[in-house]
Amino acid sequence: MRPGDGGRDYRHALGSFATGITVVTCALPDGRRDGLTVNSFTSVSLEPPLVSWCLGVGAVSFPVFDASPHFAVNVLALDQQSLVWHFASRREDKFAEVDASAGLGGAPLLDGCVARFECRRVGRHEAGDHVIYLGEVERYARFEGEPLVHVQGRYGRLDDG
Ligand SMILES: Cc1cc2nc3c(=O)[nH]c(=O)nc-3n(C[C@H](O)[C@H](O)[C@H](O)COP(=O)(O)O)c2cc1C
Repeated sequence: MRPGDGGRDYRHALGSFATGITVVTCALPDGRRDGLTVNSFTSVSLEPPLVSWCLGVGAVSFPVFDASPHFAVNVLALDQQSLVWHFASRREDKFAEVDASAGLGGAPLLDGCVARFECRRVGRHEAGDHVIYLGEVERYARFEGEPLVHVQGRYGRLDDG
C-alpha cells in the first residue's frame, strides 16, 4: 500500500510502533513558555549526546520553539497520563495548573517525570509538514518510577507477563 495523504490506515500502521511519551518545553527571554505532547523524541548519538524530535509547523507553539535556543524533554511517568491530553490540546497557559520549575534557558521541567533531558538546540531541518530539531543534552536526570508507554492508540504500562 502507498501512504496516501496522511490517511487513517497509514497513521494506524505508524501507531504500531510503541513509544514512550514526552512533554517537550521551551521558554523565551520575554517570559513566553510553551510545551506539547511529543512521541517523536529519539536518541541520536551518545558521543556527543544528541537527541531529536519533530514539531508540526502548524502547532501554535511552533513560533516559540523555533525562536528558542533551548528545549527540555520531560519523559512522562505512568501516573501522568492526564498530562498527555493537557499538553496535546490548545490552551492559553498550559503551565497554569502544572507543577514545574525552570531549567536551562527557562524551559519548564515538570515534576514527577521518570527522566528529563535539558538541551541546547544544535540543528534544525525542515521535513515536510514538520521541523526536526536536534539538541545536545547539557543536563539530564533520572527518577524512580514506571514510564508511560503508548502503542496503537492506547496508554499504559509495559506488561511483562
Ligand atoms: C501521543 C501523542 C504524541 C504526539 N507527538 C507529537 C510530535 O511528536 N510532534 C508534534 O508536533 N505533535 C505531536 N503531537 C500533537 C501535539 O501534542 C498537539 O498537536 C498539540 O496540540 C500541539 O500543541 P500546540 O498547538 O499548542 O503547539 C502528539 C500528540 C499525542 C497525543
